[in-house]
Amino acid sequence: MTLQGKRILLIISGGIAAYKSLDLIRRLRERGASVRPVMTAGAQAFVTPLAVGALSADKVFTELFSREDEQDVGHIRLARDCDLIVIAPATADLMAKMAHGLADDLASTILLATDKPVLVAPAMNPKMWSHPATRRNHATLLADGIRFIGPAAGEMAESGEKGEGRMAEPLQIAAAADALLDAGPKPLAGKKAIVTSGPTHEPIDPVRYIANRSSGKQGHAIAAELARLGADVTLVSGPVTISDPKGVTVVRVERAEEMRDAVIAALPADIAVMVAAVADWRVAAASGNKIKKQPGEAPPPLLLTENPDILKTIGHHAKRPKLVVGFAAETQNVAENGRSKLERKGADYIVANDVSPHTGIMGGDRNTVKVIGKSGDEDWPDMDKQAVAERLGRLIASHFS
Ligand code: C5P
Repeated sequence: MTLQGKRILLIISGGIAAYKSLDLIRRLRERGASVRPVMTAGAQAFVTPLAVGALSADKVFTELFSREDEQDVGHIRLARDCDLIVIAPATADLMAKMAHGLADDLASTILLATDKPVLVAPAMNPKMWSHPATRRNHATLLADGIRFIGPAAGEMAESGEKGEGRMAEPLQIAAAADALLDAGPKPLAGKKAIVTSGPTHEPIDPVRYIANRSSGKQGHAIAAELARLGADVTLVSGPVTISDPKGVTVVRVERAEEMRDAVIAALPADIAVMVAAVADWRVAAASGNKIKKQPGEAPPPLLLTENPDILKTIGHHAKRPKLVVGFAAETQNVAENGRSKLERKGADYIVANDVSPHTGIMGGDRNTVKVIGKSGDEDWPDMDKQAVAERLGRLIASHFS
């Protein structure tokens, strides 16, 4: 019952595959979703609103200009009062309307008015699917963020022709809806997590600062993943240019001392993942005014002082989270340096990576890490930072199951 409580608006358009939508309604409902059907005129030539209404246990909407329906629900509310719109089957015609923003019936108007995710299960003759016009429309819809499931290759029900065009099976469509709504297991539900991410900027004067090449990509991906697994996540982020992950509370900071204060303010927590590349040193006495270059004078000396070690502070804090994970960006002796950090900083895991310039890891999209734990090391293969986040998410969740 992984779609529990989800509201799905199911648009059925005209095609022989419409008979499979009857089964799809059952599959979605048995997973706990409510299904509100909308049928195009074409769909009603293949299955009756009576059958669709009986299986969905909801009213079937068919008319754009229905005075009764517009007063009652209205096309804008139909478009918004749901968690997901599924179109199954989606004809070539409906895809074309969507790609061009046409709104001349209830289904196409809802699709133009919605701000919800849309999952399309196309069904059409293979020649229509491979036609350049449908190829263009498909590409446009993908670029617009519309998701597709199928079509599959196989024999067409009506003509016996073979090729791509069969609608995906109801179970596959239900699984795709599930994945899109992210209604999967929530092993970290009820747990609180703090994640740090990005670099810190340590001011020299009001216009200059010391920084590093961290992008925040790895830390942000981990924050998003822990949230997807059900945790209540506070992301304390240094200055980054990437967007905020979905479903997390973001606290923006600039300096290491601000980051430490924000992390401590977010305690107590069950999980801390300290991914930020915190500057080890700051300028001892940052100037309140821009330091002026004086002709003939030597450059000003930059006297540095040590920044607080946030991971170490958390690892030894009276309110230490049950699971503390640190990162270690190294350019040499990755394993030895990582292991000594595990001990010194009071972490349960250190995720060590080689950030030598040739690896492209710092600021890049991929990562190759060694996960150092109390009971041993694990080398993970090269993968994108999202995949590292997912695997780390599973490792973290295993401590709470
Ligand atoms: O000692 P090093 O900087 O290599 O340690 C890296 C780990 O310690 C990372 O998890 C980083 O977020 C954390 N760290 C910190 N505060 C610092 C320096 C590092 O939390 N001042």
